[in-house]
Amino acid sequence: MNLIDQITSTYKEKFGHAPAHIVRAPGRVNLLGEHVDYNDGFVLPAAIDRATYIAFSPTDAPHSTLVAADFDQQASFSAETIATKTQPDSSALPEWALYPAGVMWALKEEGISTSSINAVFASDVPRGSGLSSSASVEMAFAIAWQTLGGWTLPAMQRALLGQKAENKYVGVNCGIMDQFASACGVENKLLLLDCRSLEWKTVPLPDHVAIVIADTTVRRKLTSGEYNKRRDACEEAVRLLKNDLPKIKSLRDVSVADFNRLANTLPDEVEKRARHVVEEIGRSNQAEALLEAGDIQSFGRLMNECHASLRDLYEVSCPELNVMVNIAQPLKGCYGARLTGAGFGGCTVNLVAKNDVEAFAKALAAGYEAETGLRPEIYISHASNGAELLG
Ligand code: GLA
Repeated sequence: MNLIDQITSTYKEKFGHAPAHIVRAPGRVNLLGEHVDYNDGFVLPAAIDRATYIAFSPTDAPHSTLVAADFDQQASFSAETIATKTQPDSSALPEWALYPAGVMWALKEEGISTSSINAVFASDVPRGSGLSSSASVEMAFAIAWQTLGGWTLPAMQRALLGQKAENKYVGVNCGIMDQFASACGVENKLLLLDCRSLEWKTVPLPDHVAIVIADTTVRRKLTSGEYNKRRDACEEAVRLLKNDLPKIKSLRDVSVADFNRLANTLPDEVEKRARHVVEEIGRSNQAEALLEAGDIQSFGRLMNECHASLRDLYEVSCPELNVMVNIAQPLKGCYGARLTGAGFGGCTVNLVAKNDVEAFAKALAAGYEAETGLRPEIYISHASNGAELLG
């Protein structure tokens, strides 16, 4: 049974009638520009063909009732209980419910009306894998409340509300990339976003190249703490570099030449973190021209450099991600391979010649299992549309 049938039938069982609507919001994979969105840099994600789906209807009840089919759990919240992150019976909201509740909270903060809903949702975006399962939940619920609220927000506004929910309600200081990609995805296209101006465009991926996602199946705990620490280090670098470069607002404003000149004024760890960001923004600046010219070889090299930098300077890789990347890069047909998303576990993204994809996936899976004893999940991904009401 597919996910839509599954949530529809669970909805009927639970609420006694068919759901009024179905919504879908995808996860994302990022090809270049990692850990630069919160430094005003450029990112190059694509929405993927794995998504969160919600079956839902409006209800006259004072509270919304959500069933997370993946956990077989239920939670309720209302405008009254939302600020305290509790349910009507005063128990704490379970962690998974903070994402939808956060979206309702962020909408309320903006003065946008949200009616109560009954909903059942499920996702085939693997959780904690660097493919933005949480952003897909947020963007799906943003569409659900929009559908029932009689208002329409531009996709970027919905993305910003999702980011606010995650920053201020869930407590992860993430940038805008994930919610943007989930809200604004375009079928068969990469998305190039300037995280300072929020202007974006689509960029083509040549027909002969496939995006292959390889899941190490390793999940790290405490990721949000490490993530927030990286962000603090970037802010510290800007504060210190301002002594010599008073006009800079973020690491986006620091050239590689200026950075090299001033690097020794920074503490070692701050220097490493900031160097990754400054150089990665330089790499992602080249992405558009290379892709427009169809120069996948050079683009893939930038992906490989990005992985080395995330591993050695930003220190967000892990042994299993490095094994996966080291096996992939020399395989026939592989243009580039690197970890994708925040890191600390999860998935790699690989650009592979379509003709070689099957052999690539086989060799990668076998090599990874032989070295780690873990069975990876490897799939070819297609860039998909952003969050949408399906009916
Ligand atoms: C997570 C965050 C994004 C971004 C990436 C790293 O996915 O949610 O905002 O910072 O990590 O590029």
